[in-house]
Amino acid sequence: MELTFRTLDPRDDSPETTPLLKGWLEGLLRGFHDARPKQEAWDLFVRCMREDAAIVRGAWLPDGAFGAGPVPVATYSSLDGSLNAGRRELALRMITDVTVSPAHRRQGLLRRMISDDLADAVARGVPLAALTVSETTIYGRFGFGLSTWRQRIEVDTTGKFALRDFVDPGRMELAEASEVWPMMQGNFAAFHERSRGSVSRPSFYRPWLTGTFDFQEQGPNTRLRAAVHLDAADEPDGHVVYQHMGYDDVPGGKVKVLDLVAADPAVHLALWRFLADIDLCARVEWNNSAVDDPLVWALTDAACRKVLKVDDHIWVRVLDVVTALEGRPWAADGSVVLGVSDPLGHAAGSFRVTVKEGEASVEPVADEPTVTLDAETLGALYLGGVGVGTLAAAGRIGGSGDAVRTWAAMADLPGEPFSLTSF
Ligand SMILES: CC(C)(COP(=O)(O)OP(=O)(O)OC[C@H]1O[C@@H](n2cnc3c(N)ncnc32)[C@H](O)[C@@H]1OP(=O)(O)O)[C@@H](O)C(=O)NCCC(=O)NCCS
Repeated sequence: MELTFRTLDPRDDSPETTPLLKGWLEGLLRGFHDARPKQEAWDLFVRCMREDAAIVRGAWLPDGAFGAGPVPVATYSSLDGSLNAGRRELALRMITDVTVSPAHRRQGLLRRMISDDLADAVARGVPLAALTVSETTIYGRFGFGLSTWRQRIEVDTTGKFALRDFVDPGRMELAEASEVWPMMQGNFAAFHERSRGSVSRPSFYRPWLTGTFDFQEQGPNTRLRAAVHLDAADEPDGHVVYQHMGYDDVPGGKVKVLDLVAADPAVHLALWRFLADIDLCARVEWNNSAVDDPLVWALTDAACRKVLKVDDHIWVRVLDVVTALEGRPWAADGSVVLGVSDPLGHAAGSFRVTVKEGEASVEPVADEPTVTLDAETLGALYLGGVGVGTLAAAGRIGGSGDAVRTWAAMADLPGEPFSLTSF
């Protein structure tokens, strides 16, 4: 059966497009097993999609076929944001909302939509793409490599919680999230600017983190609370957004953190000190702790922090090798000819990468590569979350021992890349 692939512009409020956009939202929520959208959800969805200038893609059954109508059998959307690549902030095609009806799986619908979208990103000069996945086996074939991780942690905030020699450089105050949203945005902007691996936040973060609308609840989140950290001059330099989850899971009470952003490590610890001081709460859970979160090293009893799960987080895809590699930092001087294979073609070729004083110049060349890898592996090592030696040991990087060692010295970066954004 010939499906109709459409790309919808959410800013188009014509009588032809509006029902298709409404049908698309129905299809998306059906695909993720969420409740059918209420009017408020629809209004907010359109507002966010417009603010983000999102590209909405889908596949519809042909008119007259059983099941045909405005609800598509596949959904997909993307928007252009930015990634902190370590040296520069680069444009990023952010892919999300991928669902395919169980009746139409494995017929190439995802392949068609993602191929079209990546080609569109290349045409618009966007050098990188990223997504988060529900299954790790799908997106490698499209050149996405696992780049950042995050941890779900549970912290015992009973009397056992104590920080070593900690003095809060400022103070905390409770606040209404909707009133301090500009401060929260400022805190995130500062984090985004200084953190390799940080992804800009789509517009749904505002209703979600201010409690004005929760997409799961399809209404306001009246339980959401926020607190701001102020520095010695009373300027905001951190915040935490959280919700008390009741006493069912943990008899002493549990708090779930939705967002925690700090200007520096001392503020990070001050936010945890505040969370630990919340009464009627024995455990605090957060699903976005960095793998190198200093909290565990600041606790007098490290056992207070349990890692419940390490999740893969952001998968990165290099589309423009020259712009992408010149936008990241480098650790040592050197030169290699990098051979990239890419089934979709966007990153394929030989590139001379020459590093001098932390900056690379990259040029396409006709020379034989000295180091070889595929687009997925390039995506994985791009932000420095995994070392070249590890990937070579896994059989994913080719070349002589000397060439791979030179490439490792150049490409391996200290510290973990980290994103506080999920999409
Ligand atoms: C949408 C989805 C079901 C796949 O859609 P689809 O239309 O059936 O996929 P396609 O038929 O286009 O398959 C494309 C390729 O991926 C493979 N593939 C698809 N789903 C797969 C799965 N669950 N596990 C392993 N491989 C898978 C196919 O075999 C095919 O491989 P090939 O082209 O190399 O032969 C799948 O991507 C999915 O479950 N996504 C979950 C949502 C998600 O991860 N979203 C991320 C952004 S929000």
